[in-house]
Amino acid sequence: MAGDAWRAPAPWTADARAVQARVRRLRARGAAIAFVPTMGYLHAGHLSLIARAKKGGARVLASVFVNPLQFGPREDFRAYPRDRARDARLLAHAGVELVYAPRASAFTPEGHDTRVVVGGVAEPLEGEIRPGHFAGVATVVSKLLHVVEPDELWLGQKDAQQVAVLARMLHDLDFSVRLRVGATVREADGLALSSRNIRLTAAERAQAPALWRALRAGRAALLGGGRARASAAAAERAMREALRAATLARVDYAQLVDPATFRAPARGASHGLLVVAARFPSARLIDNLKVRWSGGLA
Ligand code: PAF
Repeated sequence: MAGDAWRAPAPWTADARAVQARVRRLRARGAAIAFVPTMGYLHAGHLSLIARAKKGGARVLASVFVNPLQFGPREDFRAYPRDRARDARLLAHAGVELVYAPRASAFTPEGHDTRVVVGGVAEPLEGEIRPGHFAGVATVVSKLLHVVEPDELWLGQKDAQQVAVLARMLHDLDFSVRLRVGATVREADGLALSSRNIRLTAAERAQAPALWRALRAGRAALLGGGRARASAAAAERAMREALRAATLARVDYAQLVDPATFRAPARGASHGLLVVAARFPSARLIDNLKVRWSGGLA
């Protein structure tokens, strides 16, 4: 990445009051504040959110916090990649004003027993496979928003269900922040950028684009397939077939869902979201693709 060249690291603080003071100063000058929450180990997907927010005229704050509340006891919290010096350089290059990096011992200390639990859209798929995950995300994002109080919250489409869950939370809890969603950024072979990709072995990395191929196969089945009406079953079969190439992975799901509910779309629907999750021994990957078709769903 171009930003890997040396430059002064972005200003970095664990102090909520320092963040609030900076936000107040920027607002006093009439700036709109955009906020990009991250768990660090940044990639071009994160940087594209920052670039888009800046292009819209906002001043950007980012957070780096590997949120322990969103990892299950058997998940990869300890192994999650971390590199503060690299993140600070990339964020400086991207032009963020300030990085808020709270310390877990203060932000989510022992005894932090309050959770923001979103129902409905948070329940299927990731909600079922990763119990407590979305409560951990919603809790920490609420806390970050209380500190930063931004005008815009920027999230990536790769985590589509997270976007839907947080949209629900923002609406239900009357947060006055505008949610903005940036497109998934991909490697040349289609693999969606994710901080976890670094953990894939060479053999796993070679198989990982099967997720993107599966999504495209699902889309082709919905759009073509010689049927008058689109078929979710045919799309899901096509996705599973493409995923057979990923012999090292276990497929958690490969489905067509309604993007509002993350459950099966209604008959007659004319759009949906293909979602896929596969578990390689070194990292679990997810991806999705929006599809519109004509003729309704069978
Ligand atoms: O998408 C992520 O990196 C995290 O889930 C988030 C939104 C920063 C909350 O910890």
